[in-house]
Amino acid sequence: MINIVDSVKSTNTWLSFFNTDYFSSIISLSQSEGYGRLGRDWESAFGGLYFSLSLPYRPLLPFVIGISVSEVLEEYKFNTNLKWPNDIIAGGKKLGGILCQNQDEVVIAGLGINFDNEVALPTVVSISEMNYKINKLSFVVSFVEKLKLNLKHSDEMIIGKFLRYDILVGEQVSWSEGKGIVETISLDGSLGVKTDEGNMVFLTEEVHLQ
Ligand code: BTN
Repeated sequence: MINIVDSVKSTNTWLSFFNTDYFSSIISLSQSEGYGRLGRDWESAFGGLYFSLSLPYRPLLPFVIGISVSEVLEEYKFNTNLKWPNDIIAGGKKLGGILCQNQDEVVIAGLGINFDNEVALPTVVSISEMNYKINKLSFVVSFVEKLKLNLKHSDEMIIGKFLRYDILVGEQVSWSEGKGIVETISLDGSLGVKTDEGNMVFLTEEVHLQ
């Protein structure tokens, strides 16, 4: 069931109280206290998509969600990339993000995408700013169908699909403890980077493109 409301603090928080079944979900037209990874605020003005759904746990879930978003947007002829581990990119800027929160056997998966909302930062973009018009509800319906298909795929297939959209492999990145060139995304979802010192490291923390 999809619940649709005008406003909540956060669709992830709401669903964490009311998720009765797998695939129960909520769309809110705005959020007053939307948040992203690492406790960052998530701007949630009217016009954006703020969607959460409860899912059974599986490894690589943020990747499965990311490729499902990109594949559906591609059906609308809107091309996106994915920035490991959970950013949706369009025209080199951040279009949206994915936040998965584990709650016992259930994962509350939140998806924020800038559709028609005003975006303030120069590093952020919306679908309407790129002169596309996509109906949010039609997108969500197609996305959930696509997600159900992708959830059945093996980890190998998910990583293979993710790499089609990836923007990090081959790029110089930095993180809290070093710098290096991204070589691969491993089957466990970690980012394989060859450091400037020549060592191979597998990262699970956020990296920055140089
Ligand atoms: C990120 O890039 O840090 C992830 C952002 C996730 C935002 C979405 S909007 C719907 C759901 N509700 C929230 O409060 N956050 C997620």
